[in-house]
Amino acid sequence: MAFKEFNMDNQWLPFTPNRAFLKDPRVFVGADGMEFKTHDGRTVIDGISSLWCVGAGHNRKPINEAIKKQLDTLDYATAFQVSNDQAFEAATRIAALAPGDLNKVLFCNSGSEAADTSLKVALAYHRARGEGHRNVFIGREKGYHGVGFGGMSVGGIPGNRKAFGSAFLPRVDHMRFIHDPVNHAYIQNEEPVWAEDPLLELEQRILPLHDPSNVAAIIVEPVSGSAGWYLPPKGYLKRLREICDKHGILLIFDEVITGFGRMGTNFASDYYGVVPDMLNFAKCVTNGLIPMGGVICRDKLYDQMMKTDAPEHVVEFFHGYTYSGHPVACAAAIATLDLFKNEQLFSRAGEMGPVLGNAFHSAFRGLPNVIGIRSLGLAAAVELAPIAGSPGKRAYDIFVECFHNGALVRPAGDVVVIAPPYIVEKSHIDTLVNTLADAIRHAA
Ligand SMILES: Cc1ncc(COP(=O)(O)O)c(C=O)c1O
Repeated sequence: MAFKEFNMDNQWLPFTPNRAFLKDPRVFVGADGMEFKTHDGRTVIDGISSLWCVGAGHNRKPINEAIKKQLDTLDYATAFQVSNDQAFEAATRIAALAPGDLNKVLFCNSGSEAADTSLKVALAYHRARGEGHRNVFIGREKGYHGVGFGGMSVGGIPGNRKAFGSAFLPRVDHMRFIHDPVNHAYIQNEEPVWAEDPLLELEQRILPLHDPSNVAAIIVEPVSGSAGWYLPPKGYLKRLREICDKHGILLIFDEVITGFGRMGTNFASDYYGVVPDMLNFAKCVTNGLIPMGGVICRDKLYDQMMKTDAPEHVVEFFHGYTYSGHPVACAAAIATLDLFKNEQLFSRAGEMGPVLGNAFHSAFRGLPNVIGIRSLGLAAAVELAPIAGSPGKRAYDIFVECFHNGALVRPAGDVVVIAPPYIVEKSHIDTLVNTLADAIRHAA
């Protein structure tokens, strides 16, 4: 089917209902600051930083210029057996932002690749220590770690398990989800306090079942992002760290969404005061302009892998991607991190977070079908009662209506999330929230 000047016959759209899309296409042709231009000449506010990526807003000249300059200087060079100056500089900048001794950066190109990379580091590290039997991974229900088989296996997304579960990694278990819909339906810029300890199940059931000495790593998103911005109970991540330390298990934080400012800090690890053994990143590091991801490892992981008896010509970690540390992506990352710093955008995200959260709680409480509202950092979620027999339809309809009314919001199941770029103004928040409130009313 042809649409206006462009042909839509050949692109198979990712994570999109293609049949519905072709009947009602949503196509961007330009972007600047907080706004997109659509193919039919309308303006849409980017309420989700283009899927959590564009922290500094669109069309930022310093990043664009750095990319153009890099293209004319060193466009690309293989990453294997040689490297490039931009990759070393980008790694230095990223390690400087990371907490503790998270100092060694393995580059890849996406959050999915970061998930698989971190799981492979865990297996290789334990093997190098003479504990190759540690090969059980533990994730969490509703965790999202991308679409590779490793990330899907440790993730807890029912759609992935339904379609692809037959080919998942074999030795994986999952902790219970961290949401209490009765006591913590409404959370406003605070950490939920649980009366019971949600990690008892890990200590008393899951670890004894597998024997902790067999467990390679536990992977969690500090805040469960893709599932709909579900916040960890107070003290949860610290206790998870203690349990991992007690049993020699590596702790992986998937900070693909929470990394680079979303919480008002460099990483969620800083926000919660917990240093993992590996920290996965992707979104926001290049402001979304060029694909990039990575895993920041603690020194001990790298040091252990270098302590091998193998001859020096042998690769110590048998892993990498053709585009790991791509010079143009690295130039974009360096310029992005400079821009974040120069404009103090992480602290701005921290300041605008409560503005967004307060707007959510005052606009949506009591609207039809609203069963929960959660806000922390510069992101907020409103949870809706599903339509009986049609899970996800209510939030999808709301997303479509918002789009037509000039606001890009994110449906996740029957949750709708707003997570704007850090440059957001109160006026944008008001428009986004009012547009969403109207759509919630119409969907009743
Ligand atoms: C926490 C987390 N991990 C991994 C991913 C996968 O990232 P990508 O789509 O870049 O592969 C995502 C994507 O939303 C994510 O939120």
